[in-house]
Parts: sequence; structure tokens; C-alpha cells
Amino acid sequence: MNKQPVALITGVSSGVGYATTLKFLSENIYVAGTARRAERLEQLQQHNKNFLPIIADVRDTSAMQAAVDQTIEQFGRLDLLIANAGLGHRGSIIESNWQDIKTLLDTNIDGVLHSVRAAVPRMQDGGQVILISSIAARMITPYAGFYAASKAFISSLGRALRLELESRHIAVTDVLLGRVQTEFNEKRLGQPGRGGSFPPAMPVENAANAIFRAYQKRPKQVVVRWVDRLMLWGNIIIPEWIGRKAMKQYKG
Ligand SMILES: NC(=O)c1ccc[n+]([C@@H]2O[C@H](COP(=O)([O-])OP(=O)(O)OC[C@H]3O[C@@H](n4cnc5c(N)ncnc54)[C@H](OP(=O)(O)O)[C@@H]3O)[C@@H](O)[C@H]2O)c1
Repeated sequence: MNKQPVALITGVSSGVGYATTLKFLSENIYVAGTARRAERLEQLQQHNKNFLPIIADVRDTSAMQAAVDQTIEQFGRLDLLIANAGLGHRGSIIESNWQDIKTLLDTNIDGVLHSVRAAVPRMQDGGQVILISSIAARMITPYAGFYAASKAFISSLGRALRLELESRHIAVTDVLLGRVQTEFNEKRLGQPGRGGSFPPAMPVENAANAIFRAYQKRPKQVVVRWVDRLMLWGNIIIPEWIGRKAMKQYKG
């Protein structure tokens, strides 16, 4: 059996997933990466022969099962899942388009569940699941409530999963990202032009490096920047004030 660690990363065709794939490949870790855009996966394959491109929609249970099968067939093992694929959304809880809400929840909740439930049974004991969540999961976020709730769902699930997988020594790490410079805002569903500007977005490489450190150190939770930790503290001490500030940004 191959001795090198093997990671399966979802959503590698852009942003955090793309940069994280490059980081892991540069550290001699084999990566199987999923997304729907084939041409972006081909670009990654050109970078490194240790990359396996897999076209798969995270909303499709059988596609994620097949992605795990392909990973193990190609590399002989699976040590790490990074459940990264995700979408944003802005809009009111009452008025948002129902199809947008369904797409968001299918991607951010069902997509992560399909990935985790396909990968964990075939993962090496001592492996790791890294969930890419958001600081929004811990905040009051009017007009971004569906997105925040989708991430809170996954963070909550991660806390339970950690204990369930303890006997197999599989670590579960919840990465709460703040704003990152990616295509995320352009592709966000719902009402346009409500991105907000504070705090400024971090370079995507910073997120990728933090995810790699999370792989090395296996903490329960990661918040990458001090300004994001400050926002989370603010949300404990003065949650309503922070919520109203967020509303100003997101309501437009
Ligand atoms: N950027 C931020 O400010 C920020 C902040 C906090 C948390 N996050 C989280 O970070 C993660 C990555 O986002 P990003 O900023 O890197 O955004 P991004 O550049 O838009 O990347 C999203 C990735 O997810 C994939 N994806 C989306 N829907 C998919 C589906 N149904 N099936 C398979 N793949 C799918 C996309 O690939 P295809 O379209 O090719 O399928 C793409 O590779 C997300 O979970 C997001 O919630 C981002």
C-alpha cells in the first residue's frame, strides 16, 4: 500500500479549494479533488501528477461515493477529507427565492454530509475530516441568515462527529473562515450587491496555509485571523450590536 498521505478535497476548481490543493501538493501529499468545472481540474492536473481530478457534484450521493472509490483505486488509501465546496447567499428569510435556498442548503449541508458519509467509512484510522465553515456560523447575520445557518449546521455536526470518531482516532477540525479573496461573492445566490466590506478579505493563500496547519496540528477548531476572533468575541459580548452592523452591510 502507498505510504504517502492522501487527501480528498471538494470544491477545488477555484478559491480556497484550489489554493489548498496547490499547498497540499507542494507538501508531497496526494490529492483527489472534486468540482463540476472540468477545465479548472485539468489546469490543476497540469501542475502535478499527484493530483487526481474528479468531476462530481457534491449534491449527488452516488457521485461522492464514486469519488471516494476513485481516490482509493488511484492512490490506495484515504487519510483526509476537506469538505470545502460551498456557496454563499444573501436575502431576507421571508422573501428569498425558495429555489435559491434549496440550492444553498443542498450544497452547503447535503453536499458536506454526502462527502463525509462517503469518505469516513473508507478512511484510514487516525485520519482527519476538515470542515470548511465560516465565522458567520457563530454570528447574528440578518440578510445572510440562510448561509450562516447552513454553516452552523455543519459546525454543530462536526462537534458530534468528533466524539463519534474518537475510537478510530479520526480528528474532526472545524475551520471558521472570515472573508477570503475568491469568486465566492460573484457566485453568491440571492440579492446582489450586498457583500459588505468589513473586515477586508484575506489572500486565499493565507486560508490554504491555515488549512495545512490544521492538518498538521489537528485542532478542534481554527479561526484564521485575529480580526475574525475579535468579531466572534464581539458576538459573545455585544451580539445585537454586531448583528445590527452586519444588517447594515447585508441589507444594502
Ligand atoms: N470566500 C469567503 O469569503 C469565505 C468565507 C467563509 C467561508 N468560506 C467557505 O469557503 C468554501 C470555499 O469557498 P470559496 O471562497 O473558495 O468560493 P469559490 O471560489 O466560489 O469556490 C467554491 C468551490 O465549490 C465548488 N462547488 C460549488 N458548488 C458545488 C457543487 N454543487 N458540487 C461540487 N462543487 C461545488 C466550486 O466548484 P464548481 O463550481 O466547479 O463545481 C468551487 O470549486 C465554501 O464552503 C465557503 O462557504 C468562504
